[in-house]
Amino acid sequence: MNSIFEDIAFVENEVYERIIAEIGSHKYCIVDDFFPSETVALLRQSLITKLEEDRFKKAAIGNRVNETIVKSIRGDHILWIEEVLANRAEGLFYDQINDMVAYLNRTCFMGILQKEFHYALYPTGTFYKRHIDTFQNDDRRKLSIVCYLNDEDWQPENGGELVLYLNNDVEEVPKIIYPLPGRMVIFESQIIEHEVKTVSTQRLSITGWLKTR
Ligand code: OGA
Ligand code: MN
Repeated sequence: MNSIFEDIAFVENEVYERIIAEIGSHKYCIVDDFFPSETVALLRQSLITKLEEDRFKKAAIGNRVNETIVKSIRGDHILWIEEVLANRAEGLFYDQINDMVAYLNRTCFMGILQKEFHYALYPTGTFYKRHIDTFQNDDRRKLSIVCYLNDEDWQPENGGELVLYLNNDVEEVPKIIYPLPGRMVIFESQIIEHEVKTVSTQRLSITGWLKTR
C-alpha cells in the first residue's frame, strides 16, 4: 500500500499540466501568477537591493567560457543567483522552481539535472537582439524561463516586449509578450528564436535555464 505521502505527491498539478501541454503543442507557455504576488514583491526588492550594492555586471554574449561584451546585441546587466546562498526571496523562488522541475522529471522524464538563473536589469534604451538561448559548445539548455519583476503599474509604452518568433508550416508568426509583473514565460531553448525590444523604462526580471547533463 502506498503511504499517504506518495499519494499526495502524485496529485496532478493543474498549472504544471498546462505548462506541459502548451510546451508540447506550441513550444512555449505563459503563466501569469506562477509566483504569489508577495514573492514577486520580495524578489523585486531583492533585485533592487543588489543593484544598489552595485553587484550587477554587463551581460556577455556566449557562455561563461566565452565572454565578450557586445553592446550592439544586448544591453542588460545581470547577476547570477546562487541557490546555496539564497536569501528569503530567492529561497521561495527556488522552492517553486524545484517543485516544478520535480514534477516535470517525474511525469515527463525530462531529465533536468541542473539549473541556472540570473537577475536581469535592462536600463532605459537597451534591448536584446533576436537570438537563440543555446551555444555551439553547450546544448544542455532545454527550457528557458523568464520571470518579470516590473512595477505593478507597468505600461505597454515602457517597451521591453519579449517577442517569440514562432513558426507554423507556412510562415513566421511573432508572438509579443509584455513583461508584466508576476508573469513567467517558459519556452524551448533550442527551438525558439526571440528578442527583447528596446525599453524606455528600466526593466527587471529573472532569467534562467533548466538543463540536462
Ligand atoms: C535572455 C532573454 C528574455 C526576456 O536573457 O536570454 O532572452 O524577456 N530574455 O528578458
Ligand atoms: Mn534569450
